[in-house]
Amino acid sequence: MPWERRTILLCVLTVCITSLVVGVEERQEAVECADLNNTTWLEYRQQRVKLQVQYLLLTRDNKDCAQEFTEESLTEPSSKFNRSRPTKVIIHGYRALGSKPSWVKELAQALLKVQDVNVVVVDWVYGASFAYNLVVENYKEVAVQISVLINQLQNHGCQLESFHFIGVSLGAHVAGFVGTLFEGKIGRITGLDPAGPMFKGSDTFDRLDPSDAQFVDAIHTDSDYFGISIPVGHVDFFLNGGKDQTGCARSRFASILVYFPVYGYVICDHMRALHVYMSALNGSCPLMGIPCHSYEDFLKGHCVDCDVFKGRCPTIGLSENSGIAISPIPKEQKLFLLTSSSPPFCAHHILLELEVSPLDKSAEVEVTLRTENLGKEQRLRLRTDMTVYRTVLAYPVALCEIDSIELRNTGSRFYRQGDIHFKSVCLSEFPSLRREEPLCVNNIDIRRGAPWSHDFVQVCSIY
Ligand SMILES: *[C@@H]1O[C@H](CO)[C@@H](O)[C@H](O)[C@H]1NC(C)=O
Ligand SMILES: *[C@@H]1O[C@H](CO)[C@@H](O)[C@H](O)[C@H]1NC(C)=O
Ligand SMILES: *[C@@H]1O[C@H](CO)[C@@H](O)[C@H](O)[C@H]1NC(C)=O
Ligand SMILES: *[C@@H]1O[C@H](CO)[C@@H](O)[C@H](O)[C@H]1NC(C)=O
Repeated sequence: MPWERRTILLCVLTVCITSLVVGVEERQEAVECADLNNTTWLEYRQQRVKLQVQYLLLTRDNKDCAQEFTEESLTEPSSKFNRSRPTKVIIHGYRALGSKPSWVKELAQALLKVQDVNVVVVDWVYGASFAYNLVVENYKEVAVQISVLINQLQNHGCQLESFHFIGVSLGAHVAGFVGTLFEGKIGRITGLDPAGPMFKGSDTFDRLDPSDAQFVDAIHTDSDYFGISIPVGHVDFFLNGGKDQTGCARSRFASILVYFPVYGYVICDHMRALHVYMSALNGSCPLMGIPCHSYEDFLKGHCVDCDVFKGRCPTIGLSENSGIAISPIPKEQKLFLLTSSSPPFCAHHILLELEVSPLDKSAEVEVTLRTENLGKEQRLRLRTDMTVYRTVLAYPVALCEIDSIELRNTGSRFYRQGDIHFKSVCLSEFPSLRREEPLCVNNIDIRRGAPWSHDFVQVCSIY
């Protein structure tokens, strides 16, 4: 009898040990994080893998450790997906070198910091790498696959309005085509510098457009190269005119070498949309767009308010309909803003207005604004047929913090211009939230070679 008892005890122990081991294994499995795929030129050439779209899930519970996400996840108790919460879907774009996009986690975490949502990352690195023209052939197939997943989520009770797609570059058009497949019933699509090459002339069926979701917003930062130059959303923010960004090198000749390490350097303009968006999510300062017909008009100070939006300028970020409270919501509304070259990218728009007495010969003046160790210089060509000049500057601090203005009469190259009489020199900030009076200095004569400066004595009022 004692022998039998011992066997039983041993068996119990074995079971115990087995279940202990299983427990440890299960825990280890749960801790292993999913990641985006990557591919190599060799693998690509051998056509070993085709599209292989996979999905990753991040939530506030697992913001550092992505879970693989499939239809089955919806019924798995270990899945962090919560169908009563809204879902953000991140879609990357073209991958020239087959590497995984490095910014995905940062964007997901920035979103999760602001909203308690499911973040689903679409990984289509296999279909998005190397030959751009072949990648463009893949993007609709990727969209079809995503739509199958969305359909399944709908069957499990998720509402189409609760989805917000955020697509970078070509990913914006993938999102647009998902939107087309759902007949515009998806809640929102945000395009971060939607891809331009092979899309600009496309039919709206083939590219992102306002009919793809209930609300479509886009940020344009490289519309003369990798980005699209036409408006594609309800609102389209063109940063610094949408072409060239401050702090990005302006070396266009290098841009044909996209397969080489200079790539990262060349796409600086293109990726700026993403970095500005992430910074806007951080919420340190508002990035507001001013409606205007063209960038030229904007720079000439012809557009300084948001009266068409009842005074509320649309902002980059997650606020509903970009903060637009009027209805119907406009379509393809171009919005302009200037930014600085590094996070958080916000700049103050300062309008400089000069009125001079008529000149005999054209001349040039240099205007410098200063605040302690900050400064901004602007050159203006004065013509014989014009007496009023308006120009917009991006300034790092508010109007009320400007300490001084300096004017320098640099004359013209071939003619020694004498005095220039300025009837007025005025500075104002827009969009004006506080309805401040412009700062003006009147009736000054400035001789060539004798710079003039004026100190402002002012304090910023607290509202
Ligand atoms: C892609 O990555 C996942 C892990 O995140 C892995 O399971 C899968 O096998 C990878 N795909 C390929 C084709 O290597
Ligand atoms: C690429 O993926 C493989 C697994 O498929 C992984 O071992 C490797 O670290 C990844 N490389 C990079 C740069 O992420
Ligand atoms: C799912 O989300 C809802 C709404 O945020 C919340 O009330 C609920 O507790 C969540 N469920 C789980 C299992 O976390
Ligand atoms: C957002 O804020 C976090 C800290 O709060 C910072 O680490 C991160 O760099 C910021 N991101 C951007 C894009 O400004």
